[in-house]
Amino acid sequence: MKFFLDTADVDAIRELNELGMVDGVTTNPSLILKAGRNIEDVTAEICGMVSGPVSAEVVADKADDMIREGKHLARIAKNIAVKVPLTWDGLRACRALSDAGHMVNVTLCFSPAQAILAAKAGATFISPFIGRLDDIHLDGVDLIADIREIYDNYGYETQILAASIRSVNHIVEVAKIGSDVITAPPAVIKAMAKHVLTDKGLEQFTADWAKTGQKIG
Ligand code: E4P
Repeated sequence: MKFFLDTADVDAIRELNELGMVDGVTTNPSLILKAGRNIEDVTAEICGMVSGPVSAEVVADKADDMIREGKHLARIAKNIAVKVPLTWDGLRACRALSDAGHMVNVTLCFSPAQAILAAKAGATFISPFIGRLDDIHLDGVDLIADIREIYDNYGYETQILAASIRSVNHIVEVAKIGSDVITAPPAVIKAMAKHVLTDKGLEQFTADWAKTGQKIG
């Protein structure tokens, strides 16, 4: 399963990238706002750090404008994946950008029906939003399972990019289902290393080691 970082924070990307854990990055207008930087500057910097796909989102609502914005964003670097919303105009833009040779990430997916349309429109990635479904008391992980089953039934090549991830459990559950990619905030990725028994065990080993009076090296 590929790990994408869901952030436009270059310091956070650098830290995890040094461990070889970053297969790509996703951004959106809210994350660009949070970074407080110009979209083209920060996206170019991220693309220079990470060799995998870096999603940059269009903001227009009409297909022709999305295509124009998408082509503009794609000029930033070869590894740009143009992110378009799952609207009818977004699907039209997806088809045009995909046919022009660009990677396309179709975002704001909340149903299996939407995911089928994205695959038919030539999407490279489909981004179902798990956390936002959980927020309205639906099961976001179930959506990933449904899309996996449907895509496998027909051999659709669109990659499932589980998005809006809020917890370590989300990552484990979608990994069991076979999501191709997860995109998560750096803090959630780092939280995967934490376990209370690891902390407790280390505490005991440290205390016992001090009692031996020994040193290594
Ligand atoms: C990524 O592509 C999405 O934009 C992101 O995961 C949304 O996450 P959120 O629901 O936490 O804003």
